Amino acid sequence: MLLEVKNVSRAFGGLRAVDDVSFSVPKNSIKAIIGPNGAGKTTLFNLISGSLRPDSGRVFFNGRQIQGRPPHTIAARGVSRTFQNIKLFHNMTVLENVMVGRHTRSRSGFMAGIFNLPSCWREEREIENRSRGILDMLGVSGLAGMNAGNIAFGSQRIVEFARALALEPELLLLDEPAAGLNMHETAEIAEIIRKIREMGVTILIIEHDMSLIMDISDDIVVLSSGKMIAEGRPSDIQKNPEVIRIYLGEEDAQDQEP
Ligand SMILES: Nc1ncnc2c1ncn2[C@@H]1O[C@H](COP(=O)(O)OP(=O)(O)O)[C@@H](O)[C@H]1O
Ligand SMILES: [Mg+2]
Repeated sequence: MLLEVKNVSRAFGGLRAVDDVSFSVPKNSIKAIIGPNGAGKTTLFNLISGSLRPDSGRVFFNGRQIQGRPPHTIAARGVSRTFQNIKLFHNMTVLENVMVGRHTRSRSGFMAGIFNLPSCWREEREIENRSRGILDMLGVSGLAGMNAGNIAFGSQRIVEFARALALEPELLLLDEPAAGLNMHETAEIAEIIRKIREMGVTILIIEHDMSLIMDISDDIVVLSSGKMIAEGRPSDIQKNPEVIRIYLGEEDAQDQEP
């Protein structure tokens, strides 16, 4: 198992956003987390990546405890993520945005940087080459010199993937990567996710697009009001009465909106 989440809970005031959740993610698999809005999915990602501390429970990555550690430590150990709301630097180029991702892992430190040492330029060039390689692999090398704020929304998602991959993660957390994308762009994202898995990266994905989830995931965890209500293969989850009930409930609620 690459990631093990054991009895993890986190409350905000009286609200149990994540309530005693346990699951594990085998190496090189694609696991999905689904559930209605407010189910606690993003909070769970924040607990894994270190943006939030759990109130209780443990998280193991490669057999080592990571819960409560700062985000940069967890990132350096090989956990990378994308955000539900894209967080690119809009006034930097696409290439620079990807290089920022890579710097989290760079070796020559601050001192080499201020003294402008050759070790630092060599590393800079290496980072640039790797970053260009990642853009190329994702089919967006043509965007390298453009300002990230000026490219299409769907391309921004792909650049976010590139930045997360620049860290050379073992585990990639994707928070609603298809949100706001059309069918064509969603199909492109599905293709990219498969390619990333083929590179040996394990993927944990939160997503509302059911056809995407059913198509790409090996296993699905279902959250509702912070609790895990089901876990299993896509074909079993689709037939699970409890899962059907919460999703139909959500549709009913939407129908009732004016
Ligand atoms: N930082 C926070 N402070 C207070 N409440 C929060 C915070 N983050 C999330 N919540 C609440 O926790 C619940 C779960 O939120 P979230 O994890 O974002 O759900 P999801 O991603 O499944 O839509 C929601 O009710 C949300 O309002
Ligand atoms: Mg969310």
